[in-house]
Amino acid sequence: KKVYLNGEILDSHDAKISVFDRGFLFGDGIYEVMVQLENGIFYKKAHLDRLQDNLDKISILFDVRDIDDALIGLLSASGLSQKSSLIYMQVTRGIAPRKHAYPKGAAASVMMYALPYELPPINPKRMKAIIESDFRWHRCDIKSISLLGNIMTNEAAMESGNDEAALVRNGILTEGSHTNIFFVRDGTVITHPADEHILNGITRKIVLQLCGELGIPVMERPLREEEIPDMDEAFFTGTTTQIASISQLGDHSFGHGDEVGRTTKKLQGAFALLRE
Ligand code: PDD
Repeated sequence: KKVYLNGEILDSHDAKISVFDRGFLFGDGIYEVMVQLENGIFYKKAHLDRLQDNLDKISILFDVRDIDDALIGLLSASGLSQKSSLIYMQVTRGIAPRKHAYPKGAAASVMMYALPYELPPINPKRMKAIIESDFRWHRCDIKSISLLGNIMTNEAAMESGNDEAALVRNGILTEGSHTNIFFVRDGTVITHPADEHILNGITRKIVLQLCGELGIPVMERPLREEEIPDMDEAFFTGTTTQIASISQLGDHSFGHGDEVGRTTKKLQGAFALLRE
């Protein structure tokens, strides 16, 4: 396995990082996950723009344009040019003595790797989700590498034989542990507004755009947990999840068996075309 680390492409066991790196000590960094399909990296510009926005939000000085070429080099060194793969990248604030405030003059640490990866089919297995308290911080819009809240709630889902955890803050469904969540009622698509309580997913944005193109009405509004039984369909979105119908959310079931709701199916169909 190859890893890009601070300008070099290394074998993974040679890719080493200081214990004084602020990513390691504080979780002080930003990450991105993208997929490459045979025809190129899916929405690469949107992912790199989000990475830059996030770095700017926390004042990590780094220009993502500097890794564009490195990414091509990494994929080629990994034997993954034009192959289905998963790309992980993270940028941390770099190495400095452990003090909370941002150090002056530390160089950002940049790491990326790519692994062979087959995306799930366009109509992925329907997902079962538990409802967990969203005890994360109040800046979920930042794609921070500090993911304790996400991994703890996801672990609770796995442990209970579910596929995902849907998070509720102050009675409102925000998102999944690593996905955004959508509902459909009377043909209208409903999802949480893109504020500081959710990560504004690239897949989320694509779905909203597809709704526009397909003439599906959209409401970006907070949805209360009590409203779940009034909803006709629900689905999760994410880079690796794509558009996955929800069969069970807490104690509420949507549809029967493999049956994916009408609007969800329409969106999956339109999404499939973007992959081609
Ligand atoms: N997760 N919300 C959260 C909390 C996420 O971690 C993610 C992505 C999303 C969906 O975003 P996008 O559509 O841009 O992938 C929403 C990535 C894939 C991960 O942590 O592995």
